[in-house]
Amino acid sequence: MILDIAKEPADILRKKTLDIDEINDDVTQLLDDMYETMVSSDGVGIAAPQVNENISVAIVQLDEEDELFEMINPVIIEEEGSNVFVEGCLSIPHVFGTVERASRIVVEYYNREGVFLQLDTLDDAYLARAIQHEVDHLNGILFTDKMIDQIPEEELEDFYARYEEEDND
Ligand code: CO
Repeated sequence: MILDIAKEPADILRKKTLDIDEINDDVTQLLDDMYETMVSSDGVGIAAPQVNENISVAIVQLDEEDELFEMINPVIIEEEGSNVFVEGCLSIPHVFGTVERASRIVVEYYNREGVFLQLDTLDDAYLARAIQHEVDHLNGILFTDKMIDQIPEEELEDFYARYEEEDND
């Protein structure tokens, strides 16, 4: 089921979420619904507060071919390096801007089977960024709190093109 997305300035987006004690059918149903909601909105990640649930659940999938990470009670235990790139958020439509993030992280979480996992993003800075963005949501933090420069929506394509040029140098 596609869920309603809370938009800024909804109070729920500013609350620290509660850890989950027991992964029951409500939690797995929520994970399914969050996935459907994320895909239908063309997002690469979504956190439970964005669908009005004040609990520590977030998912990330960078592309439909990529692995889906379903993270329950995620905690980032290591951060390394930094890079600046553009972000957006399903809860803040039409706002885009640059944010500095760690380029590599290690995150610990439980999956839907209750298995405790540790993920090292290694050289995938985009995956590291997406997870940091979602874990921020679980702590009531929005990317606009950390935004360096806002990029007008109509300049996004130019920004990406310029970034790719720089990257290839
Ligand atoms: Co967001």
